[in-house]
Amino acid sequence: MSQLRYVRGKSVDPTKYTHLPLQVSQSIEDLKQDVFTHPAVKVLEAFGDNLRLQPLTRDQIRVLLASEGMFVLEVPPGVLSLASRITDEWFEIDAFEATGRAARVLFAAVDEYGLNAMDSGLLPSHHQLYADMAAHWDITTEELLDDRHIVPTGREFAHVIRDYYRRRPIIEGLGFHVANEATAPLDFGVFLKTFQAHRIAYGLQAENDSVLNFLLVHDDVEVSHREMGVEMVQLYTEGRPELVARARQGVLAYMEIYGKFFAELNEVMFGQKAKNALRARG
Ligand SMILES: [Fe+2]
Ligand SMILES: [Fe+2]
Repeated sequence: MSQLRYVRGKSVDPTKYTHLPLQVSQSIEDLKQDVFTHPAVKVLEAFGDNLRLQPLTRDQIRVLLASEGMFVLEVPPGVLSLASRITDEWFEIDAFEATGRAARVLFAAVDEYGLNAMDSGLLPSHHQLYADMAAHWDITTEELLDDRHIVPTGREFAHVIRDYYRRRPIIEGLGFHVANEATAPLDFGVFLKTFQAHRIAYGLQAENDSVLNFLLVHDDVEVSHREMGVEMVQLYTEGRPELVARARQGVLAYMEIYGKFFAELNEVMFGQKAKNALRARG
């Protein structure tokens, strides 16, 4: 049964609009290095080492998924809000260009909302995939939202995300967004390896069991989100150093709370082991 109750028009040939990559200033390309060389990445890797030591208990998985769920929840509406703010701001400057510019941020929401394969219809949103993954361990969405399972920095992270995407100056939000998209394959990649490492114990049929679809899709899409975000920073700043510096401030704000969050999660889940792993990572 086809789920499509409509046929999408073929009146325009998209291939006629060949995508022309934007020339991006080196200082903006460097924002990615600010992410990948940040100490928070080491904190995440050390946490990953602990996660893979042995199969996690259901209680540990619940803390992991409920805490991570806080920022998983906040990002898609944040992306939408940032795209909307860019549209409105540019609408006043050059109305016919506003939506085309903001598309570079809105694009990241397309996957989040399950709109990325419309030739075959709506896909589950990333939030739905996340809830489905938790359900594999009989973890309900009520439990995911229950403060008893969420480390305090999980809530803090959510607040910071809300602040940067929705309220702070757009340029800072853009840097924050680039850091979010750049790090997503790192943290979701760590979780993917965690569950694959002991897949039999976790009741997974295969490395790419559909239970893990939330994690698997992020492996596919985030680099494209990041690169579009980088292009948006270029468009917004035109490479002007004072504006790029403010984007960088957004990048660093993301990385600071990111590191704090995984350090706390590590400590709550693994205690002394957490410190040893971090020391081993240097
Ligand atoms: Fe996502
Ligand atoms: Fe993304």
